[in-house]
Amino acid sequence: MEVVPLSDAIGAEIRGLDLTQPLDEGTVVAVRQAWNDHIVLVFRDQDLDLESHNRFAEYFGEVGKHMRPKSIRNESAELGPNVMLVSNIRENGKPIGSLPDGEMMFHSDTPYRENPDKYTTLYAMEIPSTGGNTIFGNCYLAAETLSEDVKQKLAGRKAVHVFEYGAVTKSGKFDRDNGRWWAQPVFRKHPETGRTALYVSELMTEEIEGLPEDESREILELLFEHQSQQKFLHEHVWRPGDLVIWDNRCSIHARTDFPETERRKLRRLTIVDENPVMMGEPPGLEVAAQ
Ligand SMILES: [Fe+2]
Repeated sequence: MEVVPLSDAIGAEIRGLDLTQPLDEGTVVAVRQAWNDHIVLVFRDQDLDLESHNRFAEYFGEVGKHMRPKSIRNESAELGPNVMLVSNIRENGKPIGSLPDGEMMFHSDTPYRENPDKYTTLYAMEIPSTGGNTIFGNCYLAAETLSEDVKQKLAGRKAVHVFEYGAVTKSGKFDRDNGRWWAQPVFRKHPETGRTALYVSELMTEEIEGLPEDESREILELLFEHQSQQKFLHEHVWRPGDLVIWDNRCSIHARTDFPETERRKLRRLTIVDENPVMMGEPPGLEVAAQ
């Protein structure tokens, strides 16, 4: 197995593995190490049926269940509760999967739950001729490079992450009584690497708890701009047969637009976090204060 970095900031391609075959223990350890080092891993030219995809995912923990309305009776539902199809394909006018169309802002997966999924694995089956790329951002680097002022201000604070990001009141604030949300540490400690990541995102994060509304909005805008700087990013251009896996505890991702007339279909499995979310220290702050 060979680990080939894809950018200075984030991502590596893993070469030399055929994921239709079981992996030995040493290889799983090496993949886990590469994952901790690079946050996002890309395996190209894989021929993964659901069984192989599932076996790979289970090396890294328990596969998460995906909530979907009982009324949905389509290809996605037939695959069982662990699978989310990410697809714009429609049958009888209804999408067969989730998150169907167009661009998506930066986010991590499921931060609005008390126990967000630690990993996401996404396997490409059908990919449009252009666009629909996934841009990944390194949230350790984002945390480390914040100004001392901002680190001080946000130390020990939590931010509110909302699932129904469209579900806001007329005032523009999210509705705490309706919808799913959870307050998570702004600085999150990664249990395996011990490093601290900035754990907010433009799509999901609505406010910093304990700050006046204006100040909260202002500082969030600053964080969103900061974390999406090119120097922290890598853009993945999908090919059918790609398996891309990422760590939601220390990264964000966004999707670029793609033509609605073309088909896009990927199979997603997530991995449950066996650890609770941990508050982290703003990186570098203690040293600077001494
Ligand atoms: Fe996502």
